[in-house]
Amino acid sequence: MAEFRAGEPCLLIDERDRRFLLDLGPGRDFSTHQGSLPHDRLIGSEEGSSHETSSGARLVALRPRLEDFVLKMKRGAQVVYPKDMGPILVHGDIRSAMTVVEAGSGSGALTLALAEAVGPTGRVVSVERREDHQKVARKTVERWFGEMPTQVDLRLGEVEDVIGEVRPERLVLDLPEPWHAFAVAAETMPGGAVLTAYVPTVPQMEQTVGLMRSAGRFTDIAAREALTREWNVDGRSVRPSHQMVGHTGFLVNGRLLAQ
Ligand SMILES: C[S@@+](CC[C@H](N)C(=O)[O-])C[C@H]1O[C@@H](n2cnc3c(N)ncnc32)[C@H](O)[C@@H]1O
Repeated sequence: MAEFRAGEPCLLIDERDRRFLLDLGPGRDFSTHQGSLPHDRLIGSEEGSSHETSSGARLVALRPRLEDFVLKMKRGAQVVYPKDMGPILVHGDIRSAMTVVEAGSGSGALTLALAEAVGPTGRVVSVERREDHQKVARKTVERWFGEMPTQVDLRLGEVEDVIGEVRPERLVLDLPEPWHAFAVAAETMPGGAVLTAYVPTVPQMEQTVGLMRSAGRFTDIAAREALTREWNVDGRSVRPSHQMVGHTGFLVNGRLLAQ
């Protein structure tokens, strides 16, 4: 890939696997307790190259993957963790050129994954009721893509009001009471459409599944959680790592029956 350009995000990883995310700018300095590194040395350098700070520490410069970016970016609302993004895309069946409604935008982390999945010929209408959260989401999307991509439409308001207008083929809800959107989803989304709800607690999951069943228009309802365990692979020490992200949320999916 091309060399680093001014204005793009860059991930620096030190010898102890500490990670730093910066936006490259001419004349700027990256400084830590391990010394400083002028951005001008990174701009124009090859991705994957190693750089020495003023104190002799070595840092590897990489373009952040979506997971690096999400874990390091500025957050307002709690973000969807990278371990759940893959399952949301796969079980929610989010694919190229599709129209998706998402709520709430929150910090915009999931918006990035959805926008990448639908691509420039798709559409992600991301709805957020809080202006301060929408501001964070806007910054997140612009920082990741370098500008607001054409497929992302950020709306301020209540998701229930947007579903009927957009009539999406995919709906992704990361908000505390997803069931408030079920009636309008059932009335306006096409047969076969996939709904994904991401909720943090057991009572919320129970209520989501129960109300989806009693709505009478959903089929193929499933509830699950995704656990990812990292492993330490170092010489003869090959074992699960001592820490893991234990719990984030449950995923509930359902599909729309024809009217
Ligand atoms: C957990 S956050 C979403 C985080 C987001 N998925 C991310 O990855 O950054 C939930 C958001 O939903 C918003 N919200 C709650 N109910 C809503 C509704 N009915 N319509 C629109 N936004 C709503 C909240 O203000 C909050 O910002």
